[in-house]
Amino acid sequence: MSKVSVRDLPVEGRRVLVRVDYNVPLLERDGEILVADDTRIRQTIPTLEYLISRGAKIILASHLGRPKGKRKPSESLRPIAARLAQLLGKEIQFVEDCVGPQAERAAHSLAPGQILLLENTRFHPGEEANDPEFSRALARLADVYVNDAFAAAHRAHASTEGVAHWIAERGIGLLMEKELRFLGEELSNPARPFLVLLGGAKVSDKIGVVKRLLEKADVLAVGGAMAYTFLVAQGQEVGSSRVELDQVEIASDCLRKARERSVEFLLPQDHYIVETVDFSKRETSPGRYTLPGEPIPQGWKGVDIGPATVEAFRKVIGVARTVFWNGPMGIFEISSCAKGTLAIAQALAQANHAVTIVGGGDSVAALQEAGVADRITFVSTGGGASLEFLEGKQLPGLVCIPDRPS
Ligand code: 3PG
Repeated sequence: MSKVSVRDLPVEGRRVLVRVDYNVPLLERDGEILVADDTRIRQTIPTLEYLISRGAKIILASHLGRPKGKRKPSESLRPIAARLAQLLGKEIQFVEDCVGPQAERAAHSLAPGQILLLENTRFHPGEEANDPEFSRALARLADVYVNDAFAAAHRAHASTEGVAHWIAERGIGLLMEKELRFLGEELSNPARPFLVLLGGAKVSDKIGVVKRLLEKADVLAVGGAMAYTFLVAQGQEVGSSRVELDQVEIASDCLRKARERSVEFLLPQDHYIVETVDFSKRETSPGRYTLPGEPIPQGWKGVDIGPATVEAFRKVIGVARTVFWNGPMGIFEISSCAKGTLAIAQALAQANHAVTIVGGGDSVAALQEAGVADRITFVSTGGGASLEFLEGKQLPGLVCIPDRPS
């Protein structure tokens, strides 16, 4: 069932509160705070341009970081107003609170086509508490509510869920529609073979997705630290690699289920191994590659997939017609352990015959570092939200939007 869309709503000349996810990385240069990665901001531009073209008065709300209900200058959205103004070539008004008299005055004096960005919603404890009074205060700013924050749709917060109960005219934005089309329609009825490529540190974060996608995929390839728990479940020696002992049985179940369903389950066959990792300095002790099938010695840990694994994964990417990728193949933030992840990014970019869908911060960062993000069919803005969506969980930010009448 599709949701009411911004295109279905009466927005002409009306105040439209658009919940976006501008939770983006920032950096400091010469004393100025700048946006380090503006992907999430760019992705909202179609919705904003649509609303501008319809003469709506646009009020943007977002969280940034986790300030835990306190005003934290380092997590202000002001730098984002500057970046959005550059991207749209248009003035973006900014107000230092997201509710209250100042915000209401600014919202009520907007002219059609003008844009106002509110300060971080998480500066108020009512946001994460989904406090009805705070939701009501947000609702007082607008006549229409549009949720375009797919990446925050798994949070039942005031600006993503609570506010919707106070505004009758509500729908989803164009980015949310696109996310649902690719993560929903494309992956529920994929062109085959359908390859799911998962990585990242923790099996426990991804197990719901593994279970769900085992029912759909033809091939499941797993890399990253989570692979070691699966390798232990297969009885392999993984030395001092990170293993979640409480997940080994669940991993075994998944391997069994894959066999029963004739899903090919690929795990790394060689590894880049090191003795120590220093996350704060982003470095490791000198490393080496194991040979395919060679056990990882005690005292050593796997921190990236090796060349034989890259080749095996490249092969399945080469024949797949749909690929979904989430999670790095190694400790991507340390450059000596990022080769496998970057090689996978390159392989995906070359899969011209396939629909390629990528989600998750590190996999998306790998596409950007490899300079291939524009060669991927769809790059999801959602991290946790895309995983919960693929697990089949109901996202509060979507549930609060009515279905479109059939
Ligand atoms: C994200 O970056 O995944 C979203 O913005 C949600 O942020 P949160 O995990 O702090 O709620």
